[in-house]
Amino acid sequence: MTRSRARVGPRRSGGPTAPPLDVDALIDDPATGIIVCCGSGGVGKTTTSAALALRAAEHGRTVVVLTIDPARRLAQSMGIEALDNTPRPVVGVEETRGGRLDAMMLDMKRTFDEVVESQATPEKARQILENPFYVALSSSFAGTQEYMAMEKLGQIHADARRDGTYDLIVVDTPPSRSALDFLDAPERLSSFLDGRFIRLLLAPARGPARMMTAGLSLITNALTKILGAQVLRDMQTFVAAFDTLFGGFRQRAQKTFELLQDDHTAFLVVAAPEPDALREAAYFVERLSEDRMPLAGLVVNRASPAPTGVLSPDEAMVAAVRLRERQPDSVTAGLLRLHADRSRMVEREATLRDRFAAAHPEVPTAVVPALPGDVHDLTGLRRIGELLAGE
Ligand SMILES: Nc1ncnc2c1ncn2[C@@H]1O[C@H](COP(=O)(O)OP(=O)(O)OP(=O)(O)O)[C@@H](O)[C@H]1O
Ligand SMILES: [Mg+2]
Repeated sequence: MTRSRARVGPRRSGGPTAPPLDVDALIDDPATGIIVCCGSGGVGKTTTSAALALRAAEHGRTVVVLTIDPARRLAQSMGIEALDNTPRPVVGVEETRGGRLDAMMLDMKRTFDEVVESQATPEKARQILENPFYVALSSSFAGTQEYMAMEKLGQIHADARRDGTYDLIVVDTPPSRSALDFLDAPERLSSFLDGRFIRLLLAPARGPARMMTAGLSLITNALTKILGAQVLRDMQTFVAAFDTLFGGFRQRAQKTFELLQDDHTAFLVVAAPEPDALREAAYFVERLSEDRMPLAGLVVNRASPAPTGVLSPDEAMVAAVRLRERQPDSVTAGLLRLHADRSRMVEREATLRDRFAAAHPEVPTAVVPALPGDVHDLTGLRRIGELLAGE
């Protein structure tokens, strides 16, 4: 499938300033079917996905946003406190242009259960779902949440295609330390599941005991001591039961990967205007291009708002020092200092962005200033949407 419009490409040469990200062009383009918001922990992925989804819906698209762990008040205002894995209509969306917005919060464990139920016979599914090792894996294995977010995306996409329910799916990603976790998760989960270690454990459950070498029984004995016989038995039963699903998991992960590589998908990398976050964003941008996944742009979120006034930070500092010499407790001197600090911060952030742009000049960028308070309702989301669109 080809898109009518190339989203990424150098628009100008010269200075390191990044081309602006045209968010409205992205959400108004009927060819945009999936938007994935990635980034490291706490940078504003959930906020950005919800804001984009709301704006797209109010621009007339039929949208579903798949959120992960939204802050409680935000979830409440979108009507998604219930973890039931079903998209629900968001109340209060302006629908005059014919669009609408559904939202859901990912229930990781439930998604995992649904996958097992859809892949195994009822008897086998029951065996797996009741197994304590499965319970632990499905709720706490590193990467499960990432993997399940992809699963759910795959499901919603298939349903949307079949029933015409949505023409745009906006996906939030889990609060991982690294944005890359999202892309690594399926591989990590499936290589864990068909890993050698697990195969070794599986051996006694499958083959005759004499097949076990002395070395292997040593390992198993050691594990029995460490983990306890029951745990080891649970693990073996789990793996044996899960075995039939291996192929299915890999295949599904592969399919979702292809979906992410599709021309109709757009990745947005969200970052805070800080060195670590931007470095992380740079890795992610490189990785997307290695994996041939379409990048729409970078969102630098919670940027320091530029102070008004014409004084440079140095001028403000000089003036503050002079004033203070004559008037030690001058309020104006305090304000001048504040102005200097703020302006320096804004300059520092601009330098960081320029550095990013110099290394990745082709990545369109939107800068969203920090609002004075948290974003926890539709009004706040609408405001973030406007800022994203450069209004
Ligand atoms: N531009 C902004 N101005 C003010 N507050 C913001 C802005 N963007 C995000 N926030 C606030 O910052 C907090 C973190 O945002 P959010 O939950 O979207 O981050 P996240 O990347 O999804 O975090 P996690 O990695 O934990 O999932 C929230 O309380 C949100 O309201
Ligand atoms: Mg989040």
